[in-house]
Amino acid sequence: MRTLIIYAHPWEKSFNHHVLETTTKLLEEKGHEVDIIDLNKDGFNPVMRQEDLKEFAKGEYADKLAGHYAARLKGADELVFIFPIWWYGEPAILKGFYEKVFLKGHTYKEKDRKLVGVLGVNKATILTTANIDKTIFSYLGDPIQNVLANGILKTIGVTNVTWLHCPTVHIEESRINYLAEINAHFSK
Ligand SMILES: Cc1cc2nc3c(=O)[nH]c(=O)nc-3n(C[C@H](O)[C@H](O)[C@H](O)COP(=O)(O)O)c2cc1C
Repeated sequence: MRTLIIYAHPWEKSFNHHVLETTTKLLEEKGHEVDIIDLNKDGFNPVMRQEDLKEFAKGEYADKLAGHYAARLKGADELVFIFPIWWYGEPAILKGFYEKVFLKGHTYKEKDRKLVGVLGVNKATILTTANIDKTIFSYLGDPIQNVLANGILKTIGVTNVTWLHCPTVHIEESRINYLAEINAHFSK
């Protein structure tokens, strides 16, 4: 099983970095081959530039790193997204990842006027941390569940999505419970 982790946090002493380390260890113990895309460490530029869009329309990547990420997506059996909630959604660097990497022809195609995934990966886990719980997200239109899980990931063919959220990341007990929840999820 090849698991691709897409990680979006710039600080290596963050709790999210701890989540990344814990998840990687858990998966490796289960025998997964783990590949990590660390967007900040890679210096990924999330901004769609003129030259990107010119190639985008032709189904090609002007940003070589985006093309490299797409190749790694094609080799994955499972995806894991790890990121903090910033302004009720994902950090900009992750938004730019969807925009620049999820290119038509490489991650999805149009068939009978519908968008269908072409990657061959069906399963994803979304791991997020914040100071708000899922009820607040639902008041705001549920950006992680509705836009990321049911919109973006579904478009590229990933329909089996689990979202695990730590709602009170500033409380130590909550962080401990969250790590236990992650452990239980990946031990199923
Ligand atoms: C730019 C920025 C925006 C944030 N926006 C939100 C937010 O909308 N809702 C929320 O609950 N927390 C928000 N936070 C708090 C982060 O979610 C929190 O600091 C993070 O989940 C803690 O994990 P970490 O220690 O790994 O950074 C924000 C933090 C930053 C830096």
